[in-house]
Amino acid sequence: LKEIQTPAHALKVASVDYPVHELICARWSARAFSDQQIEEEVIKTCVEAARWAPSSMNEQPWKYLVTQKHKEGDYQKIWECLNQGNKPWTQKAQVLIVVLAEKNIKSTGMQNAYALHDVGAANMNLLLQATSMGLLGHMMGGFHAENLIQALGIPDHLMPVLIMALGYPDKPDVLEEPFYTREITPRTRKPLENSLIWDSWV
Ligand SMILES: Cc1cc2nc3c(=O)[nH]c(=O)nc-3n(C[C@H](O)[C@H](O)[C@H](O)COP(=O)(O)O)c2cc1C
Repeated sequence: LKEIQTPAHALKVASVDYPVHELICARWSARAFSDQQIEEEVIKTCVEAARWAPSSMNEQPWKYLVTQKHKEGDYQKIWECLNQGNKPWTQKAQVLIVVLAEKNIKSTGMQNAYALHDVGAANMNLLLQATSMGLLGHMMGGFHAENLIQALGIPDHLMPVLIMALGYPDKPDVLEEPFYTREITPRTRKPLENSLIWDSWV
């Protein structure tokens, strides 16, 4: 696990009730990204991690459109499709990824009921791999899907699920409000009892 040493990071590491793996504690949804470019090798390693996620019938319904800020590509078009609340802080993210789901099962043409589940699992692999390499990611459902489909010409068999920002973290004070405060506010979770039913339903 590569140490992340921004002031915000110390505040964001999960404070857990049980001794969870440090990689899981260290991942959080950052908004302050540095200008440092992400090496192609590192990005590909993150997608490789996603590739090894489990999926229903091994369909692997995920697809990642990876764009880099400094490259000619779809980065700008993607950024334009983000909601107003996501536009200001994503401007510095070196990488924007459109996460897509293959809607149907290849062999039968039937709808894949687990596509979103499996894409989520792959995303988590990607984010944890990224965290282990000193990067932070931030998933966003806040984007205009119709505009994105139009702008990129996304074919009908794929569904854009999320846009993910990825970058090396920076100090929180590169952000304006309300993002600065969000960057330094510790993460919270509902109590474990809220997620866990022990032994029997009633
Ligand atoms: C499906 C999904 C959509 C999200 N959409 C947004 C978004 O549009 N903008 C944003 O700032 N954060 C977004 N988030 C980040 C969540 O707010 C964040 O994961 C949650 O508050 C927990 O914080 P943590 O990831 O730092 O633990 C999204 C997360 C997920 C999983």
